[in-house]
Amino acid sequence: MPRKDRSKSVATVAFPDPAWCQRFRRRLLTWFRGHARDLPWRRTRDPYAIWVSEIMLQQTQVATVIDYFQRFLDAFPTIADLADADQQQVLRQWEGLGYYRRARQMHQAAQLIVQQHDGRFPEDLQAIVALPGIGRYTAGAIMSIAWDVRAPILEANTIRLFCRLLAYREDPTRGEGQRILWALADHLLPRNHCGQFNQALMELGSEICSPRAPNCQQCPVRQLCPTRAAGLQDQIPIPSKKTVYEPLLEAALVVRRDGLVLLRHCGPDERWAGMWDFPRFTVRQPRGKAFAAEVVQRVAELTGQQVEVGEHLTTIKHGVTRYRITLVCHQARWIDGTADRDDLRWVATHQLEQVPLNVSSRKISRLIIEG
Ligand code: ADE
Repeated sequence: MPRKDRSKSVATVAFPDPAWCQRFRRRLLTWFRGHARDLPWRRTRDPYAIWVSEIMLQQTQVATVIDYFQRFLDAFPTIADLADADQQQVLRQWEGLGYYRRARQMHQAAQLIVQQHDGRFPEDLQAIVALPGIGRYTAGAIMSIAWDVRAPILEANTIRLFCRLLAYREDPTRGEGQRILWALADHLLPRNHCGQFNQALMELGSEICSPRAPNCQQCPVRQLCPTRAAGLQDQIPIPSKKTVYEPLLEAALVVRRDGLVLLRHCGPDERWAGMWDFPRFTVRQPRGKAFAAEVVQRVAELTGQQVEVGEHLTTIKHGVTRYRITLVCHQARWIDGTADRDDLRWVATHQLEQVPLNVSSRKISRLIIEG
């Protein structure tokens, strides 16, 4: 166990003393110098690029983010370019990353930076956290990595690492746990090299101190870790609540009219706000006469179009948040209906590539393009 410095404790948890902290920092930074992965956002100090990477990394794996990060910066090299783009272009670049609110908020934040900060990423914490989609974690990451400001961070990898370093056995996601771990993040942070230090913490959490079977043999701070000393790696942090998945049956229609297909723009409160979708809705039956009748009624409610249901095209199983969706997709023939609605668009199949679609709709679009 690390020796405790009780003057610097929060609630009932005692934090490591200064000598422990010194050793921890030195070992961590030395390890990071030799083991840091060469990731594209580690080659820049541009706060805009770091911001893009941190937003993408919030709910997405490093391996997936690499390509998206580079493509996004090629499409929008500066904050002003992002602010000037229309939302459709931004969502198209984000397509496949999921959690599209992140892209809408970044776009909005870029416009605010142009209006309020002359297009330069603000350096003041209050101004940074006032931007949509930027909380304490993202602000700390940008400020420390771009400018070496002494700003702590706390995210999934460091939550797990800190729980083990404190042998913390309460829920780290609750208010008290969060307060303790943020205070520890601040307690451990050195005066200098804060950007390197914060990235090293995340690297250690992700590459060594993994949720299951952490690689303690290779850990540079193994001798400092009370969880390893007690052999409690599989009990700390305490397991998070299991997500209860809900099955959901949905139907999507490729409604055709004169060589065009019907798309619907998702409204601001919908799952894919701002993106386009084939008409889609929940249904009670996956097939048969009752299915066809229900689909005709639901598509009329959703789009005001009268259609005739055609052949089955595909069935896609996919997950969105806590839903396990079975999406039954059919061709349909347009019969009647008004075209005069802003949320509807008839598009040629070759235009589908320009339109931001969710992942399942992109699969459908590829199927119909390839015939
Ligand atoms: N996860 C979140 N931010 C990260 C970063 N900067 N490097 C590696 N993993 C991360």
